[in-house]
Amino acid sequence: MNIIVTGGAGFIGSNFIFHMLNKYPDYRIICLDCLTYAGNLSTLAPVMDNPNFRFVKESITDREAVYRLFEEEHPDIVVNFAAESHVDRSIENPQVFLETNIIGTSVLMDACRKYGIQRYHQVSTDEVYGDLPLDRPDLFFTEETPIHTSSPYSSSKAAADLLVLAYYRTYGLPVTISRCSNNYGPYHFPEKLIPLMIINALHDKPLPVYGEGINVRDWLYVEDHCKAIDLIIHKGRVGEVYNVGGHNEMKNIDIVKIICKALGKPESLITHVTDRKGHDMRYAIDPTKIHEELGWLPETKFEDGIQKTIQWYLDNQDWWETIVSGEYQNYYEEMYGNR
Ligand code: NAD
Ligand code: DAU
Repeated sequence: MNIIVTGGAGFIGSNFIFHMLNKYPDYRIICLDCLTYAGNLSTLAPVMDNPNFRFVKESITDREAVYRLFEEEHPDIVVNFAAESHVDRSIENPQVFLETNIIGTSVLMDACRKYGIQRYHQVSTDEVYGDLPLDRPDLFFTEETPIHTSSPYSSSKAAADLLVLAYYRTYGLPVTISRCSNNYGPYHFPEKLIPLMIINALHDKPLPVYGEGINVRDWLYVEDHCKAIDLIIHKGRVGEVYNVGGHNEMKNIDIVKIICKALGKPESLITHVTDRKGHDMRYAIDPTKIHEELGWLPETKFEDGIQKTIQWYLDNQDWWETIVSGEYQNYYEEMYGNR
């Protein structure tokens, strides 16, 4: 099996590559990633010498490069993780989100149509459903929940999902889509809530909580997400959407307090800053379909996953120190410098 994994130098894509190479020693994995600020080749160092792995530095928006790769590799499956993924950046500058997340997806699927494919899998997000009210804990996102996006990021992901379903209906492209809740774990880029709070706390820097910190996210350990995608590409029904989430809803402020406690840092580091524009209140996935159809269940409890994650950031300072000392620092100062 030849699998092109786009965005494999990022957080979830790299974890997926490790999972697949480890589980399927006879599969060939080709990582297509243009290494934006969020892509890090050092993340893939452990597999660079694996004869079943190839890294290709190109953009999914570059039609010529994508077609060339398909001609060289004849992939059986494409799993598309490549995206601009950070909501705050999409609020500052939506354009690149439209280019990568929408146009890039269409280029990949055009290549799949042209050269033939067993499966195109789109890695999507629960954010396409918008948000749920805090006072209705009985409500969850199902695959039938209408698309109702809030940010330029989620709108671009929703547009891509609609294109994927259109390519299925119009051209019969064998597609699947997964819509997952918030992931956490190793190699999570330091701009996102959990790694940002761990790294700031380690430096005794303020922990910038948006608004009151009562927004709820549904956290899933990244390896569980990778296992879900593995199941969907092998056993999922073509043309279907699968929600992925582990019923682990937490308020942002509670996560930050857990991190403070685990690192022995005072909660006085917590600083309430200006809220995110259009900030979604609550995400909560109903994963019944993937559980009943494919037997997927999350394996990592949050209490264990968060400790493993904190330990990973303690053990891998080289990885994140390189990131936080470069271009990211300018971004961080722009975001929080004036708050
Ligand atoms: P990330 O930002 O950590 O990584 C994105 C990767 O895509 C980077 O390696 C980057 O270099 C690459 N990339 C960006 N533009 C590209 C382009 N034009 N061509 C090729 N490569 C490009 O993102 P992540 O958190 O790992 O998310 C991966 C996917 O999963 C995204 O599609 C995201 O929407 C989705 N998702 C993420 C979460 C989450 O909690 N992080 C949850 C659900 C779904
Ligand atoms: O739900 C899936 C989505 O989860 C993915 O589609 C996105 O790619 C991914 O980035 C993530 O989006 P969020 O916006 O939920 O994640 P983020 O880590 O940016 O923020 C999580 C929550 O924490 C959110 O309510 C905003 C808040 N927050 C975030 C940051 C960066 C803070 O309070 N302070 C911060 O500094």
